[in-house]
Amino acid sequence: MVARIIPVDPFDLVIFGGTGDLARRKILPGLYRRLADGQMPPEARVVGAARSEIDDAGFRELVREALVEFIPDDVLDAETMDRFLALLHYVQIDAVGETGWNELKQQMRPGVVHVFYFSVGPSLFGPIAERLKHRGIADSDSRIVVEKPFGKDLASARELNESLACHFDETQIYRIDHYLGKETVQNLMAVRFGNMLFEPLWNSQYVDHIQITVAETVGVGGRGEYYDRSGAMRDMVQNHLLQLLCLIAMEPPARYDSDAVRDEKLKVIRALDAVAPDDIVRGQYAEGPDGPGYLEDVGNPRSRTECFLAMRLGVSNWRWAGTPFYLRTGKRLKARASEIAIVFKEAPHSIFDVPRGRHSNILSIRLQPNEGMQLGVTIKEPGPGGMRLIDVPLDMSFAEALGEQAEDIPDAYERLIMDVIRGNQTLFMRGDEVEAAWAWTDPVIAGWEARGHVPSRYDQGSSGPDDALMLLHRDGRRWREIRP
Ligand code: BG6
Repeated sequence: MVARIIPVDPFDLVIFGGTGDLARRKILPGLYRRLADGQMPPEARVVGAARSEIDDAGFRELVREALVEFIPDDVLDAETMDRFLALLHYVQIDAVGETGWNELKQQMRPGVVHVFYFSVGPSLFGPIAERLKHRGIADSDSRIVVEKPFGKDLASARELNESLACHFDETQIYRIDHYLGKETVQNLMAVRFGNMLFEPLWNSQYVDHIQITVAETVGVGGRGEYYDRSGAMRDMVQNHLLQLLCLIAMEPPARYDSDAVRDEKLKVIRALDAVAPDDIVRGQYAEGPDGPGYLEDVGNPRSRTECFLAMRLGVSNWRWAGTPFYLRTGKRLKARASEIAIVFKEAPHSIFDVPRGRHSNILSIRLQPNEGMQLGVTIKEPGPGGMRLIDVPLDMSFAEALGEQAEDIPDAYERLIMDVIRGNQTLFMRGDEVEAAWAWTDPVIAGWEARGHVPSRYDQGSSGPDDALMLLHRDGRRWREIRP
């Protein structure tokens, strides 16, 4: 089975921060792959815009090096590389000054889709938006893409929304949360709303609890300064984990279109309970054989920022009242593994002579690595000797089920950029959604700051602090193992 690729319309894509880390690691390699697959049309133009004093040739060289570094050798090919580099241009620009804007205007061709990707810090969003609009570079058909972090709290997110809204309509603004571009995350909607099997059981009457785990093996690396100001709550939970929670918890939208889906997600965020202090565990990884501890990594021995966070959270609406959601994310854990597990209740009565308390029906949705889904079911253990029960997985690894097609799954950024060109906002966060997420996040952070809470230490390569285990143990439940 080979996926049908429909090329998008010709476009001019300007990347502010075009020489930066995200552009080199994700955006440009992603575009290369879309060109190689025939989805990016040969008439496309990509303009890098940044402060560096380089020209088109210098930019192309920089991009060539990035492609060699970030694309596996067996995917890179010289002919596609040349075609790709020929589409690139560069404009030296001062985002808060006057230089470069006329040159940028000259790069924009009439009659094609215009996209401006703000791969820069949020303090530059307003100044760039203003210049694009006032100098007639962007118009009411142009689209802008903004990266996280979208603010650090409700007040700053509101300010950012307002500064963009002065120049662009909400239908032109694409706020990226790259988790929404992951294949399995979209599959979550397909599974829920494309089958009859799950939806009738998808509520507190049948679901005991839900676990969302995003575990990473990396530390905070060279991003210590940013990270220590953010912590796991702002960096991962306020956006990625909440978005996952929304897709699991939302009501079926009437259509798969951007406002219908985002309206439903917004209702979930607004139904989130405040989190009690006892329902939160925060941690920092200790120094270990594999490297320095968190405090050293961020160069701040007194830091109280968490790089591990686990919490128990309620969604107060008819569907979910009484079913806890347990969220967990952290750095330097035992494996890189992201998983959503829907743990169903046990059958109300057992006709077999087996102990109660079995939760064998677990739908686990694996985001990465090894995307796929697994449904645990109870069966009879084969062979003579009476009725003994065992739990086995009904397994659907996408790689096995879909063969070659699963190997060609585009990276989240590739998919999202193509969605921008197509004008599809479904997988992007709307302004009110982001604000609602901060409105829930702010008091949780304010709560632990007011208490002067100090994160617990945990061993590198572990599952996080022991207190995180207790969060479920005291409810008579257990975290699923973090497996690679
Ligand atoms: C980013 C966070 O948004 O997501 C990082 O800022 C984190 O801290 C990353 O490492 C995880 O993304 P992925 O796609 O590797 O799971």
